[in-house]
Amino acid sequence: MKIGVLKENEAENRVSILPEHISKLSKLKLEVLVERDAGSSAYAGNSEYENAGAVIASREDILGTADIIVSVNPPAEKDIKKIPSSAILVSTLNPLVMSDTINLLNAAKISSFSLDLIPRITRGQSMDVLSSMASVAGYRAVLDAARFLPRFFPMFMTAAGTIKPAKVLILGAGVAGLQAVATARKLGAVVEVFDVRSAVKEEVKSLGGKFIEVEGATEDRAAGGYAVEQSEEFKKKQAEMIQDHAVKSDIVICTAQIPGRKAPLLISKTTVENMKPGSVIIDLAASSGGNCEVTQNDKTIEINQVKVIGESNYPSTMPSDASKMYGTNLINLLTLLINSEGELNINFEDEIIAGTCLTHKGDLVNERVKSILNK
Ligand code: NAI
Repeated sequence: MKIGVLKENEAENRVSILPEHISKLSKLKLEVLVERDAGSSAYAGNSEYENAGAVIASREDILGTADIIVSVNPPAEKDIKKIPSSAILVSTLNPLVMSDTINLLNAAKISSFSLDLIPRITRGQSMDVLSSMASVAGYRAVLDAARFLPRFFPMFMTAAGTIKPAKVLILGAGVAGLQAVATARKLGAVVEVFDVRSAVKEEVKSLGGKFIEVEGATEDRAAGGYAVEQSEEFKKKQAEMIQDHAVKSDIVICTAQIPGRKAPLLISKTTVENMKPGSVIIDLAASSGGNCEVTQNDKTIEINQVKVIGESNYPSTMPSDASKMYGTNLINLLTLLINSEGELNINFEDEIIAGTCLTHKGDLVNERVKSILNK
């Protein structure tokens, strides 16, 4: 079978497969086609792919002849229309936000697998693209904040006096949040963290952060490690506590999310107005509305000399390692979809395959997406 690696759009620097992944695909008995210049923004040239055993091909060739098509972002409508129904597409299809893609895939009767749907279970960890990319974002967010902060991160005892360490407040201690805690601590900041799941308290502490608990949070173990919607009373109490801590912080990193919902609003415009001049807010939840009231997606704005950064694609700013992680996650999923003869074997009895398959033979088959979209 042939697998085809598409070049991403201009705004994306990552690529779904790097030259170092090709040997693993060959072991799966796949012939690898790579679109010309697919890896150039991730510092992987055509000749590197060729040396690793891939064939450089045109987009038309890949769309028309590959049995498996892979990418980081969903292909454009005109490209989806060129994929035969016998092929499968493996990508990050973001179906909860981009439901038009589902209709296009159904119309073309393409079987698709969305890497952002990998169930968060132990066996799925090696395929969990969302976790990989969130760790890149958590790390990068702290570095970006440090770049814009007009102060040092660590405490310094100098001949010119003692410099106090920066205070970093992190909202949400999932994958991105915990990576942000670890990175900010390594740079020497004092770190405080809010989350509604008490399960993360010990993890925050073990990374050197201080967990701030707001009593009365609603938790649901059945939500598979994700947060659930909170009561109005809790939200009010939490907003007040967050404001108290935010106005004393130099940096706020926002990472709170409830999957399939608009991001919870945790920082009001008033809080931003009351923060210290020179402070920086990085809102990782920008693309789903932001945790901060004034965040604008993919824009940096300033209110009373407080910067609010709404960068929505940090992984693209670190394309080498982000692509390395993405490609490894992708190949780990492919090993479930391809049998030892190198043929496709879509086993819907497998929780990961059933949980990741989005469309099949013209239908939306993913139960989680169906239930969220039908709400
Ligand atoms: P996650 O689901 O692992 O973590 C989110 C955390 O927020 C959870 O621990 C949850 O309990 C917490 N949370 C939910 N509601 C809360 C509330 N009201 N108060 C405090 N905490 C609350 O998510 P992950 O993977 O860490 O991603 C975090 C965010 O970063 C998401 O919005 C994701 O889309 C975004 N992201 C942004 C990127 C970028 O480049 N800007 C790249 C990757 C992810």
